Amino acid sequence: MKRTLIVLLVFVMTFSLVACTPATPAESGSELPGVGVTIYKFDDNFMSFVRGAIQREAEGKLDLTLVDSANDQAKQNEQVDGFIQKGVKVLAINLVDPQAASAIIEKAKVADLPVVFYNKEPDQSAMDSYDKAWYVGTRSAESGEIQGQMILDAWNANPDWDKNGDGVMQYVLLKGEPGHPDAEARTKYAVETVVNGGVQVEELELQTGMWDTAKGKDLMDTWISKHGDAIEMVIANNDAMALGALTSLEAAGYMVEGKFVPIVGVDAIPDALAKIEEGKLVGSVLNDAGNQGKAVIDLANNLANGKDVLEGLDWTLDEAKAVRVPYKAITLDNLDDAKASYGQ
Ligand code: GAL
Ligand code: CA
Repeated sequence: MKRTLIVLLVFVMTFSLVACTPATPAESGSELPGVGVTIYKFDDNFMSFVRGAIQREAEGKLDLTLVDSANDQAKQNEQVDGFIQKGVKVLAINLVDPQAASAIIEKAKVADLPVVFYNKEPDQSAMDSYDKAWYVGTRSAESGEIQGQMILDAWNANPDWDKNGDGVMQYVLLKGEPGHPDAEARTKYAVETVVNGGVQVEELELQTGMWDTAKGKDLMDTWISKHGDAIEMVIANNDAMALGALTSLEAAGYMVEGKFVPIVGVDAIPDALAKIEEGKLVGSVLNDAGNQGKAVIDLANNLANGKDVLEGLDWTLDEAKAVRVPYKAITLDNLDDAKASYGQ
């Protein structure tokens, strides 16, 4: 009898405790500080991984309003107005137009909101115009240098890639969005690194494929019909375009025994890793989506909670108020390093 009473008491107490516990902010969602996040366009292969990392990292910490700017800067400006009306505490902005930072900064200033730009680096003058603006990205030149070194090493290790035997590397280059710091720096430093390494080059073609697989394939189709076997190297500013070039070459009967054309990309997205594994891409440069997404949320979380931007974090800011996540060369030897960053 006594025991039953105790069991009953314990039961009642436990139940009432549970019943009295207020819903945690994580459960109710709305009690978490709000952050307005833009992605320049959802239909960008690499950015879809950054988006995934941002969502994962924010879970239980921040109430994200995450929108697709659909590659339209005017639309993005309106989306930012909407965030401000909604009462978000922080803006996390992947610009459509890297030159449009000042328009966003003007809005942020009026509302006294901190802004974390990411992936498309604003001009230094825009960053300097607002003490509550920060940037999360990479050091763009580094990706070009690493890609160039990879091309140089592979070229030197494979004398048969110089198909016409003239000692010159005849290349085509698929460029990302013109004016995008990553596209400009990758183009410049990839080629410069090869030349500085003592290999002569000849540019057969250089055009923008706007980071896009289908555009990369179309350009490559045209270039193959124009130059055919004269193409000895395909340099792509990102993997999406590298994969488009690969599809084009395969359709034209290349990439089989004796008809190999080396292709090198940047990002090390999972689809590219699979092709490196098959021996169809020479390599890529890891653009660490996981850590860039994490850094965006780490900074935004501090700012949304009124803390110092770097409080309790291991990230460092350079003189441009930027967190720069390092790149890494990825080849057959270290595919796992890239897989980890993409949560594979
Ligand atoms: C680059 C990336 C590209 C593309 C671009 C979008 O860092 O390498 O694949 O996603 O960002 O701004
Ligand atoms: Ca040659």
